[in-house]
Amino acid sequence: MTEARKRQRMAEAFDDLSGSYDDPHHDRIARALVAFVAPTAAESVADAACGTGAAALATAAALASAGPGPGGGPGGPVLAVDLSPGMVAAGRARAARLGLAGAVDWRVAPAVPLPVPDGSLDLVLCASSLHFLGAAALADWLRALRPGGRVGFTLPLVGGFHPRGVFAELLAADLALPADADQARTLALDAGFTDPAARVVTAADARAVVLVRARTPGQPAEEPDPVPTRRSVAGGTAAEGEPHATFSAGADGRPPGPVPWTGVERARDARRPGR
Ligand SMILES: C[S@@+](CC[C@H](N)C(=O)[O-])C[C@H]1O[C@@H](n2cnc3c(N)ncnc32)[C@H](O)[C@@H]1O
Repeated sequence: MTEARKRQRMAEAFDDLSGSYDDPHHDRIARALVAFVAPTAAESVADAACGTGAAALATAAALASAGPGPGGGPGGPVLAVDLSPGMVAAGRARAARLGLAGAVDWRVAPAVPLPVPDGSLDLVLCASSLHFLGAAALADWLRALRPGGRVGFTLPLVGGFHPRGVFAELLAADLALPADADQARTLALDAGFTDPAARVVTAADARAVVLVRARTPGQPAEEPDPVPTRRSVAGGTAAEGEPHATFSAGADGRPPGPVPWTGVERARDARRPGR
């Protein structure tokens, strides 16, 4: 299948799904990712393959509750890019309902490459989509992010992921799904990122995904505040450095507070040689 044909089929498949898309499940994953990555208002953020905007809206909600209002921080609105006009239309409607219309800059476009200049982003988020985008997306994020920029993505774990029909056909062939958090960190390192951390989270229906955050090589971004000993992960709790947590629905659709980077994870990841 050519890339153009694949994109057309992808857009059609998700357009068809957009009226019945499982927002609650994907919102939980995105909120867990946003809590794990902790975007700040100073960062220019993109949500790659945003769908109905789970990660963009979770980010916008978190920043709006902490700052000067939707899209009003120095980082500006979250750039949300997706091939499917139907998914983007549903996302715009959700943003309006949530009072976040000005907080997201929606684009119907391929997410690879992201429609931004080289080195112009501080943070790329990608929730529940990298398994469709493939390895080219990871390479493009290295291009689009400034040195020391950040990436946060999720992937389903290989054991419990069983897509059917067109969604199985459209999976990227060049990205092996990880079996656990260690393999997810390795995936980020092999793609060229540094300081990876990963955590497996399991939904109430037992679908497990891994959350990954990492940096681009170069000047590290400013570190957030001191590390807590225990922290909340989107409704569940996890001990410091614990690689597996559960997550639950937030009734108001908003993410919990920021989760700082941790010394434990950095120390563990620093042990990997030559990366
Ligand atoms: C399972 S949905 C996830 C959407 C959203 N990120 C979420 O967390 O709910 C996958 C999305 O990837 C989009 N997608 C797949 N390939 C894409 C590409 N090359 N460029 C842009 N969007 C793409 C689809 O249109 C769909 O909206």
